[in-house]
This record gives sequence, C-alpha cells and structure tokens, in this order.
Amino acid sequence: MTVDELQGRKRSGQKIAMLTAYDYPIAKLLDEAGLDIILVGDSLGMVVLGYETTAPVTMEEMLHHARAARRGITRALLVGDMPLCSFRSSVADSVRDAGRFIREAGCDAVKLEWKEGMEETANAIVGAGIPVMGHVGLTPQTAAGEGGFGMRGKDAESAARIVAQAIALEHAGCFAIVLECIPDLVAQEITRRLAIPTIGIGSGPHCDGQVVVTYDLVGLFDRFTPRFVRRYADVAGAIRQAAAEYAEDVQGGRFPGKDETRTMSPGEFARLKKELGAGA
Ligand code: KIV
Repeated sequence: MTVDELQGRKRSGQKIAMLTAYDYPIAKLLDEAGLDIILVGDSLGMVVLGYETTAPVTMEEMLHHARAARRGITRALLVGDMPLCSFRSSVADSVRDAGRFIREAGCDAVKLEWKEGMEETANAIVGAGIPVMGHVGLTPQTAAGEGGFGMRGKDAESAARIVAQAIALEHAGCFAIVLECIPDLVAQEITRRLAIPTIGIGSGPHCDGQVVVTYDLVGLFDRFTPRFVRRYADVAGAIRQAAAEYAEDVQGGRFPGKDETRTMSPGEFARLKKELGAGA
C-alpha cells in the first residue's frame, strides 16, 4: 500500500481500513486480514505499557514496538505515531524524530496530533521527504489540559476551528488526516472540503476511512471501552479462561499429560542409570 494508492481511494470512493498494532504477531494478523494502514499508535502507552495516559510514551518505546510491527507487515502502509515528547523545543528535533521512525523502525509515514503552530512542523517533515498523517478533533496527548476526553466540535465555533486545522494540515502537505471524536456532520464537511483522505475514529460514517484501537476492537483492553467502538471479539475473556484452566490443570497435576510429554526408550534409560552409577 502506498500513499498514492490511498489517495486514489478517496477519488474512487473505496473506504480505507486502518487499525493499530504494537508487535509482530498482531501486525502480521492485521496485514494478512487485508488492513490498508497499520498504525503503531501512542495508545501503546495505555493498552500495552499500562500508563494512565499516552503522555509519558517515549521515542525509544515507540521505535521498539514499531520495529516489531514492521517485521510482521508485507502489504499495509505502516505509520508511526509521534509521541508527545517528539514535539520538543524545535522543528528540527521533530524532523529528526520523524526520520528515526523511517530509518530505525522501517515506517512508511508518521502521524502528528494537532497542536497550535504544528503546521510548520508538519511542513518541515514533509519537506524532508517523510509522508505525514495529521490528527485533529480530540487529540489524546493534550486532551487532559483541554477539558478532558469528550467529543470536540459540538458547537459551530469550535467545529469551524477544527475545519480550519484540517485545511491547514492539508496545505502543510499531509497525505491524510485522522478526525477523532467530532460530530458526523463536521467530519462530512471536512471530508467534502479536503482532497486528501479523512480517517475517522468516533466521527461517524462519512469519512474516507475508519480507525480504532485493535485492543478495543477485539476486547483485549478492558479497563474501559469508548462508546464508538464495536467489539468483534472477547480476547480478554478467552485469555482469562485459558489461563485459569491451565492453572487448574497444573495445580491439580493434570498438565502435562501423556500427549504433552516426550519420553526415552527403556533401553536408553537403563543405559543412563548405568552411566550414573549404581544407586543413582
Ligand atoms: O494512538 C492511537 O492509537 C491513535 C489512533 C486511535 C488514531 O492515535
């Protein structure tokens, strides 16, 4: 999958399917399942590393997981999410961190959450030859300081600001934009105004594609589930059940059984006893 093919999808009307992965096995399964874009999101911090928010995630953690995901992908476009710390003091630092996602982890593109003035950063990264996906609406990295994790753009003024941000990011050279937790009509308006694809999360059906956190989709992260997520499986329940059955079998002496045990021929065992000496 290439950036050009994704942009062609906008023109042809074929929707884009995107999910998150943070390791080799899940990335491989998603790639085999036909996902178009796989995002190593900084949601990693909450669903895999157990932080309360995404804010503490470091570049080293992102690169470590992006490298693992890369090994599982042959077809989908791999996008690395720039963590909060990558918006350091200067645009040059951000360009350097974006470059690390490409060179050190093999990502095809990076994603940047909206922050006031970040068009300049997005533009500089694009200028360095790195495709950039923007992200507006609810931006989890800075949400705590902006009134929490609720929906954005509910009134005309705040919706107009989000439309302006999306347009600014398109002008800065982004190849696609994530629209998180905004009303469906606002997402539809942005999708209509932009030439680049919009990827919605909790923003209704009118976007050019959809993304959710895979651990929410398969029920592996069960601390909370956003209202907009449709659960397709109960992987947490399946793992809990398997682990409990295993523990009961081990504790009750039922595992390993005959089928799970490799033995030695009686002749070899007799030779071993001889080797070890009488009485051993
Ligand atoms: O970090 C993440 O997983 C994301 C997606 C949910 C868009 O930013």
